[in-house]
Amino acid sequence: MKNYSIKKVETKNEMKEFLKLFDYWHKKGLVGFVPIFILYRHKDKGELYLLKDTNKNKTIGIAWIIERKRPYNFYQVKTLALSPDYHAKGLGEYFLRGLVDPLHKQGFDLITSVVSGNEPAMNLYRKVGFKTYDTKTSKKGVITDEMVFPAGKGRVI
Ligand SMILES: CC(C)(COP(=O)(O)OP(=O)(O)OC[C@H]1O[C@@H](n2cnc3c(N)ncnc32)[C@H](O)[C@@H]1OP(=O)(O)O)[C@@H](O)C(=O)NCCC(=O)NCCS
Repeated sequence: MKNYSIKKVETKNEMKEFLKLFDYWHKKGLVGFVPIFILYRHKDKGELYLLKDTNKNKTIGIAWIIERKRPYNFYQVKTLALSPDYHAKGLGEYFLRGLVDPLHKQGFDLITSVVSGNEPAMNLYRKVGFKTYDTKTSKKGVITDEMVFPAGKGRVI
């Protein structure tokens, strides 16, 4: 998509921008709480990404992908969120596909967890190829759809 690019978080400033948007959506209850040290140095920290509006040199989206080794090798989309001003323009789909399609093509299953009733996110993940394989209720009573985009090797969680 012209004028938008996906950038891995590599500098302190990029991390600051990631955290700003992360905090915004966390306060709205759509992305889960994550202790800050995990984002910096936990073994499960995975990779953080920004979606940039290159014309305005502005960060407009964040994503967090974690590689999982057990019970087999697959990837988890932990977070995907865009600034409200940029919703419903096809950018969430562009961002998600840009991150998951290369992994899926390499044969990796992808999983994610979406707060049930978060229709924009559920529909986006379904459109890209994810389907619900389970639902969970957290200690705080939050119900989530557990979704998988299987790579076709028959290894569904
Ligand atoms: C989920 C989110 C990333 C979608 O991004 P987006 O850029 O608005 O989505 P797109 O414009 O790329 O739309 C792609 C598909 O998503 C679905 N979708 C997007 N917005 C929707 C809405 N308001 N209602 C229902 N479905 C919606 C549709 O299936 C759409 O495909 P279509 O246009 O062919 O109907 C965005 O709403 C967001 O940042 N939400 C807050 C954070 C969040 O909930 N993240 C997910 C959990 S971590």
